[in-house]
Amino acid sequence: MDSFEFMSPTEFILQKDADKLCGEKIKRISDVCLFVHYGDGFTYKTGLHARITESLEMAGVEYYELPGVEPNPKVKLVRKGIEICKEKKVGCILAVGGGSVIDTAKAIGIGAGYDGDVWDFYSKKAAPTESIPVGTVMTLPATGSEGSNGSVLKNDQTGESADVMADCIRPVFTLMNPELTMTIPKRQTIFGIVDMFSHVMERYFSSSVEVNLTDYMCEGVMKSIIVNARTLMTDLTDYNARAELMWTSIVAHNGLLATGRNQDWATHTMGAQLSAQYNAVHGSTLSVLFPCWAEYVYKENLPRFVQFANRVFDVDLDFYNQEKTAKEGIRRLREFFEWMGAPTCLSQIGVENDEKFKMMAETACRFGDIGGIKALNARDVEEIYKMAQ
Ligand code: NZQ
Ligand code: ZN
Repeated sequence: MDSFEFMSPTEFILQKDADKLCGEKIKRISDVCLFVHYGDGFTYKTGLHARITESLEMAGVEYYELPGVEPNPKVKLVRKGIEICKEKKVGCILAVGGGSVIDTAKAIGIGAGYDGDVWDFYSKKAAPTESIPVGTVMTLPATGSEGSNGSVLKNDQTGESADVMADCIRPVFTLMNPELTMTIPKRQTIFGIVDMFSHVMERYFSSSVEVNLTDYMCEGVMKSIIVNARTLMTDLTDYNARAELMWTSIVAHNGLLATGRNQDWATHTMGAQLSAQYNAVHGSTLSVLFPCWAEYVYKENLPRFVQFANRVFDVDLDFYNQEKTAKEGIRRLREFFEWMGAPTCLSQIGVENDEKFKMMAETACRFGDIGGIKALNARDVEEIYKMAQ
């Protein structure tokens, strides 16, 4: 086990009607709030917008709205939110939505107290040290942004996708009402499941040794995701499975499962290029790339892939042919994604030719080689994109 530092200061509440607590939670922090959301779409159709504004009004919170967050959120809207915060002296930001809304709110939180442009944090020109507190009403279990120290944005001018990682952007509270997730369409539900499963794999595929606690935790989380996915694929309105996945999204990505071990993250870095260039949905990039990545790197740490096959996908151990066991585990991973209906090759997500592979691979490796199990350079990454065609 390696040394580690870990903090998770977020208050998590899971209960029916949890969203209605947002007014009182914010009032304890500030009288003035910025309410960030998608805008047109499910937020209004389901009555959630009215529930949130009523809660804010009942608590006597003065609020300003920033609608219009899109999937793969853009820095342009963040700048608009920062202006509102400065002008109205906003003391708390409320994000109502999934990863794109929460990441937008986090970016506004760090940008509002900074004299330069907020993109400086994403281009690594500056590091954030403080933020306006962000609270969330999470509606889409997937990214885990509601408990994580990360925010991912796209620069509308350059087309670049980049992230910020800092403990000061972890939400102060996250309110989870599982009933709000009943309206998530099947396709989006599947992408959320793929994303949280991938967050565990990015940590599980580690070269750290003697990490039994986090190994068993990761394996347990992955197995429970499979069980709840099976339930939801037959009944999208199963309350218990929805509730479990809501909490799983956070457990998978708040950093607990990475304590004392190194991590990989090559697949997320490669996937971000597909989202930046083709506007591909985040989860879809992972269901396509993860099995290909595994096929490319498994020989670097055969015992770990054998353990994954055996403990997560119940593959019988073949002591005489460990490679066969490892490959069967990867096959079952791909089969699990396909069984749900997730894409597993690039043509299924609208990437029909390889003209951008080289450029995307170079951009993915712009800060150096990527990945923990095997350090991948731009040539390796290009190869993995080709395997995914
Ligand atoms: O358009 P509407 O109808 O409003 O639909 C929304 C939205 O467009 C819909 N939705 C959300 N909750 C719903 C719902 N529909 C019905 N019922 C509900 N309860 O979902 C659509 C997509 O939302 P989005 O927020 O884009 O999805 P997701 O949560 O998957 O977020 C993806 C973003 O998060 C980043 C990704 O890169 C991507 O930009 N990530 C953030 C991370 C972090 N901050 O820690 C880690 C992740 O690995 C990821 O990179
Ligand atoms: Zn992810």
